[in-house]
Amino acid sequence: MKENRVFNFNPGPAAIPLEVLEEIQEEFLNFKGSGMSITEISHRSKPFDDVINDAIERTKRLLKLDDRFKVLFIQGGASMQFCMIPMNLLADDKSADYVNTGTWATKAIKEAQLLKKTIKVVASSEDKNFSYIPENVKFSPDAAYAHITSNNTIKGTQFADFPDTGNIPIISDMSSDIMSRPLDIDRFGLIYAGAQKNLGPAGVCMVIIRDDMLERVPDTVPSMLKYTTYSSKNSLYNTPPCFAIYTVQLVLKWLEEKIGGLKNMEKINKKKAAILYDFFDTSNFYNGTAEKNSRSLMNVTFRLPNEDLEKAFVADATKNNLIGLKGHRSVGGCRASIYNAMPTEGIEALVDFMKVFESKNG
Ligand SMILES: Cc1ncc(COP(=O)(O)O)c(C=O)c1O
Repeated sequence: MKENRVFNFNPGPAAIPLEVLEEIQEEFLNFKGSGMSITEISHRSKPFDDVINDAIERTKRLLKLDDRFKVLFIQGGASMQFCMIPMNLLADDKSADYVNTGTWATKAIKEAQLLKKTIKVVASSEDKNFSYIPENVKFSPDAAYAHITSNNTIKGTQFADFPDTGNIPIISDMSSDIMSRPLDIDRFGLIYAGAQKNLGPAGVCMVIIRDDMLERVPDTVPSMLKYTTYSSKNSLYNTPPCFAIYTVQLVLKWLEEKIGGLKNMEKINKKKAAILYDFFDTSNFYNGTAEKNSRSLMNVTFRLPNEDLEKAFVADATKNNLIGLKGHRSVGGCRASIYNAMPTEGIEALVDFMKVFESKNG
């Protein structure tokens, strides 16, 4: 670990690869010979055009997107997509299917309902406190889309495979697992992800949208909430969050050039998560909260024998430079968020610490 740095297990904003931070630092005062920083240059300048276009091209290569797909950068976080999706893609005489796997899916459902759209919750894991991913979900053959949250940041569950929706396009909130594994892109009509977990800093949401989805957008949607505003102007209709997009571009470059693409990233992520889960499976002190076949490779949620021990665990871990292990305030317990940027070394340090903590308190 670099001097003065910690292992950052925060759920988001989350760790960014050290190489990326160093690159930002290196070119911060004089971006590409401009004599200005990236935060000072025009979003209509050639250097920024190169940044946004490179981010788009890298996204296309990493996810193997063909020409049907547009990559957009939109503000308002993933939360704004909860309303933009039904506003743009769900006509009043149609219905959409939603799978409810936790807090974020519940919010997506609520926003569609606020708009008085017709939606159907076709499956939910609420009966067991969202600790699993529903299987064998039956989707409606005439649904406008099927909305799922691929990774549930708070409950630590993840779709290992995407459900069979037949011809219905999948719309997925991938805020906490985008770019963590390859995708079969043909099945998706739209993918969205707030950047602040696996892509870079907060302030921008990546939206990948297929051209037939863009054709659905009604004229009546206000300009800033309309996908076609972003797709027709290369996300430069108004001033975009330039610094966030620039950092995303560097993270994508790191993924392509340092990691070697999403297959490699997935292999690394599986290995990292296995270190923690294998450890839980031999322990009576630490208990994973997600059902085994629904476990997330990104957010590892667990409990200790009681809440006092959990508090002591988080405090002691912090003293040992292992930061951000407290569970979400709505569920308690502990959570290690181990996104792409968390090195294996960080997971090993965590497990070593967990063993010591158990030997003192178990
Ligand atoms: C899966 C998921 N969806 C949506 C959100 C909300 O994202 P934002 O804060 O960018 O609106 C989060 C935030 O943690 C998330 O984990």
